[in-house]
Amino acid sequence: MTMQNNKTVQALQWTGDALKVLDQRQLPEKIVYDEYKDAVGVAEAIVTMRVRGAPAIGIAAAYGVVLSVRRQYAQSNQWRKKVAADIELLAKSRPTAVNLFWALDQMKAELAKQLDNPLAAILACAEKIHNDDIAANHKMGELGADILTGAKGVMTHCNAGALATGGYGTALGVIRSAYRRQRLNVYAGETRPWLQGARLTVWELSQDGIPATLIADSAAAWLMKSGAIDWIVVGADRIAANGDVANKIGTYSLAVLAEQHGVKVMVVAPTSTIDWNMPNGDLIEIEQRNPNELLPACYLNEDSQVSAWNPVFDVTPADLIAAIVTERGVILNPAGQGVGGLRNAI
Ligand code: MRU
Repeated sequence: MTMQNNKTVQALQWTGDALKVLDQRQLPEKIVYDEYKDAVGVAEAIVTMRVRGAPAIGIAAAYGVVLSVRRQYAQSNQWRKKVAADIELLAKSRPTAVNLFWALDQMKAELAKQLDNPLAAILACAEKIHNDDIAANHKMGELGADILTGAKGVMTHCNAGALATGGYGTALGVIRSAYRRQRLNVYAGETRPWLQGARLTVWELSQDGIPATLIADSAAAWLMKSGAIDWIVVGADRIAANGDVANKIGTYSLAVLAEQHGVKVMVVAPTSTIDWNMPNGDLIEIEQRNPNELLPACYLNEDSQVSAWNPVFDVTPADLIAAIVTERGVILNPAGQGVGGLRNAI
């Protein structure tokens, strides 16, 4: 199996013997791909945010397992143990995006089978995860665009585009599909502190010829008050069974503001982002990143009295969400019903 061709920018490319990772820290100034030939390198690429975004993290980790099998299978008859150690390392790379653990579970299940040709089987499994994600994004794009019919403006947060997925994107997939049907105004929040909106989202949209207006995160309330947007459209890092959604820090603020201004919130995510075993969002581990990502350099010394609190995700309760769009279908008003109805849907 080969990777599906997709026209949008690619965060990840499998070359046949290595994983090429677009270094998103350097965008939009430079397009630089780093090549990884072992799982340790892929784990490092995730930790350092060269690759980020829940589905892309999961796909990268799956290829990390492929690289591990390629290396260990040839070298020792203890290869399964060594691959298991690499899988543990990959699992520690980031805590919140459940797609990481979902993808590693798929790879573990494949490895647990009696395999005549483990190298081929494990690569096929990773490529399926990658291709299925792209297909899911296109499906969600159409489902979400149906809901946006007649909308004049949308706002997105962080980057939930091709850069954050196998290709096409979740929230940006919906915006792409909707824009193709009808022109609509697209606003993107900067997404402090890492600036995924400013550096990635508006760049990715402009690569596709979709005009986007960047706003400071703190301008969101005023934008909503102006009446310019009908919907907030975002991705997710983990969706709990009751429909609570963990996503980039600031999503919760936007949802609270949206409620005040009569703007609706749409969450777009593949079912690999649903954590069926997580009853509600209170239990989701929220990644805390290094305070140095926030602090100006003058505060980075031992005598400094200034510290920083840097949670990089928050949880939006289901009752602030109007629609959860997945490749298996849409849940409108998830509060009270959760997402369980999607579990056995096809
Ligand atoms: O810290 P990041 O850049 O990995 O956070 C990404 C997000 O919060 C995205 O909105 C989410 O992963 C969905 S990506 C389709």
